[in-house]
Amino acid sequence: MTTAIIRQDGKEKVTGTGRYAADLTMTGQLHARFKYADIAHARITRLDVSKARALPGVFAVLTHADVPARRYGLFVKDRTLFATDVVRWEGEIVAAVAALTPEIARRAVELIEVDYQPLPVAKDMESALAPGAPIIHEHWASYDVDEKIVREGNVASRSSIVKGDADAAMATADVVVRGRYVAAGSQGAPIEPRAIVAEWKGDRVQVWSSTQVPYAARSHVASLLDIPENMVRVTVPFLGGGFGAKCEGHFEPQVAMLAKAAGRPVKLVFSRREEFLAPDHRREGMIVEIETGAKKDGTMVARRARVLTENGAYSADGPFITQFAAMFTAGPYRIPNLNIVGECVYTNTQPSGSIRAPGAPQAAWAMEQHNDELAAALGMDPVALRRKNLLRDGDEGPTNQILESIRAIETLEKAAELIGYGRKLPPDEGIGFACGWWPSFPMASGAFVKINADGSAQIITGAQECGTGAVMTMPTLAGEVLGMDPSEFTILYQDTDAAPWDGGAGGSQTLFNNGRAVTEAARQVREQLLKLASEELEANPADLELANGRAQVKGSPDRFVTIADLASTAHGGELLIGRGSGTPPPTPAYNASPSCVGRLGGEVFAAPTFGTHAVHVKVDRETGVTRVLGVVAAHDSGKIVNYVGAAGQVTGGVVMGLGQALTEGTQIGDDGKVRNAYLLDYKLQTAADVPEIKVWFTDISVPDAGPRGSKGLGEPPCIPTPGAVANAIANAVGARVRELPATPHRVWAALEETKA
Ligand code: MOS
Repeated sequence: MTTAIIRQDGKEKVTGTGRYAADLTMTGQLHARFKYADIAHARITRLDVSKARALPGVFAVLTHADVPARRYGLFVKDRTLFATDVVRWEGEIVAAVAALTPEIARRAVELIEVDYQPLPVAKDMESALAPGAPIIHEHWASYDVDEKIVREGNVASRSSIVKGDADAAMATADVVVRGRYVAAGSQGAPIEPRAIVAEWKGDRVQVWSSTQVPYAARSHVASLLDIPENMVRVTVPFLGGGFGAKCEGHFEPQVAMLAKAAGRPVKLVFSRREEFLAPDHRREGMIVEIETGAKKDGTMVARRARVLTENGAYSADGPFITQFAAMFTAGPYRIPNLNIVGECVYTNTQPSGSIRAPGAPQAAWAMEQHNDELAAALGMDPVALRRKNLLRDGDEGPTNQILESIRAIETLEKAAELIGYGRKLPPDEGIGFACGWWPSFPMASGAFVKINADGSAQIITGAQECGTGAVMTMPTLAGEVLGMDPSEFTILYQDTDAAPWDGGAGGSQTLFNNGRAVTEAARQVREQLLKLASEELEANPADLELANGRAQVKGSPDRFVTIADLASTAHGGELLIGRGSGTPPPTPAYNASPSCVGRLGGEVFAAPTFGTHAVHVKVDRETGVTRVLGVVAAHDSGKIVNYVGAAGQVTGGVVMGLGQALTEGTQIGDDGKVRNAYLLDYKLQTAADVPEIKVWFTDISVPDAGPRGSKGLGEPPCIPTPGAVANAIANAVGARVRELPATPHRVWAALEETKA
C-alpha cells in the first residue's frame, strides 16, 4: 500500500478558488437559455420565435429550421439537436436563445410561441409495451442503427444471453424460485452543474465544457456543425462530479451554434432543475423478472430472466446498457444454463444514459434479492449459497469468457468476517449481502511526459479528473519510472489541442488505460535520460538507475548526475519528451455463443473486478425508516496504486448505492413528467446519513491488467450496495421490498403485508 500523496488540485478545490466552467466569463459574453417542450408527447403545430427575436438584448434564437437536419446517437440515430415535428419528452429542446443577460434570455424564452397537438403518453415501460401503445418513434425503422441492433417499435433494442439449455435444466432442479423486481431510475446528480462556454476565433470554435469526454464532445461539435475536428477545441476547466451524466457530447453544438449566430461568446449554465431533466442524466429504470433453479445442495443449474430497461424518449447507450443488465442479472455466478433477454424500451420520459456502472446496481439489486429468496427456499444460509456458486478461476462467465485471477469468494469471506456475520443481533437489526462484478474497457489513450530544464516535469494527458484520481495516480506512476517524487510533476488538464486523444473519464478506465499510457511515455523519457547519463558518467546505460532525481551508477550512488543537469544540457530540456498510448492487454479467452442476439460487442473483458458488500441495518417497524448502521465493502480490484484515492472511490460508491437503495429515485407522473426535479425532493444522502464504511481490497497484482496489475475501481463500489441493503432489511424484519428505493412507506407496507 502506498501512503497518501498531496492532491495538486486539492487546495484550490477545497478553498473555492478553482475555476470551473460555470466560473468562466468572456468579454462580451451572452447567456444561453433553452426553450423546452414541457409536454411529454405532442405534435408541434406552430412554432413562432419572432417575438423573441424582436426583444431588445436578444442576439440569436435558433430552432431546427436554423441547423442542418441530422439525426445522431451512439447506437440508434434517433435524436436531433432541436425538436422537429414531434416532441417525445418534456425536456426536449425546442429552441435556444442567446441574450445579453440571463433575465433577457429567460424573457425571450417566454416569448417563444409553440402550439401542440397532444399525443398519447407512454409514461413507463409497461404502457409502452401494452397492446395499442403509442409508437414513440413512428419512423423508427428508417433510423440509422448499429448493424447488430435488433429492434421493433417501442423496443429500441433486444439482446440476449443464451447458454446451455435453461428450459431442460430448470426441469431437473429441486427448487425453483421466481421473482419480479421494479427499480426506479436514479440520477447522476453531480453537484457541479453543466456549463459550456463557446467562442469563435475566425473559423475555429473554442468550447469550454464541464464534460467527462472532451474528445467525444469535439467530435460531436465537428460532426453536427459539419466542420473538421481541428476547427474545434474543447478545454475542460476544473471538473466536478460527473458519475456518467457528463459523458457523451451534449449541448456543446447548440451553444457553439448560438455563438456563431450571435457573433459573440455564449455561456450556458444549467439550473438544478435542468440538471435533473437533462437527457442521459438518469440511470435507467428497470423491471427484472427472474427465475432460478437449484439442486438441494444449493448448486444453481439454470436461470431464466427478462430484463426491461427504460430507454426514455431517445437512445444514448441504452441498447448497450441493456445487454450489460442481462449480464448482471446472471451475476458473478457459475450458472451453466442461462436464457436472459434484455429489452430497451422507449417511453415518453427523460432519456436515460450511463450513470456510474450503468445497468449494474439495479440488476444486482434484483438478482441478489432473488438469490436470498432462493437461499430461503433451500433452507440455506445466503452466504453459503453464494460461496457455493460464485465464479472461480478458470470458470466460464455468463458471456462465455474464461475467467482468470478472480477473487470473488475472498471478497465474500472478508465481508462476512468484517461485518461480524453470525453474531446475535438486537431485534429489528439485520445483515445483508450482495456481490457484484464489473468489466474493464481496454481503450486507446495517450500521454506525453516531458522534463523541464530545471528537472521538474509535466504530464500532458487525455486523462480527466472528475474524481478519477488521475491527478494523484499519474504523477505516482511517472515518478516511479523516473525516480522522481510525484510532487515534481504537474498535469495539464484536458485540452484537445494539446493532449493526445483519450476516451475520457468513463467505464472505470482512467488508471487502467491512461495509466498505461503515462507509464509508457515515462519509460521513453527514462531511456533518453539513461542515454544522456551514460555519456556524462561514462558508464553503460544498463549499469545506471534513476533515483531521487538523479541518474546514478548502480551500487555507487556517489557517481551521479541530476536529472536537472541532464535536462538543461538537452537543449533546455524540452527535447526530453516521451509519448505513450498504452498497449491494451490481450483479449481473454472466449467461447462465442451463436444463440445470442443483438449484442453490440463487449462480451469479453480484460481484468473484470469483483466485490461483495455487507450491510447492517436497523428498521423502525412503526415508521418503516431504515437506518444503515455499518457497511463493509470488499473489492477484488487488483493492485491498489493509491490507497487513499481508492478507498475514497469505494466510500463514495457505497454512499451513492445507499441513496439508490433508500432515498433517491426519479418519480414520474401519469403525464410523463418528472415529479422530483429538485434536491429538496430528490433526496441524496448527506454526510449526516453516512454510516461507518469499512473498505477492504485484495490488493494483489493481476496479470494483463492496468499499471502494477490494477483493475478499474470507479464504478464497482456502487453496484452491490442496493441489493445488500434490501437483503439486510428482509433479514431484520422479515419483510421484503421488491421496489427500488426502499422508502419508509414501502418498508412499512411490506411489513403490513407480512402481518396480513
Ligand atoms: Mo461512466 S457511467 O462510464 O462515467
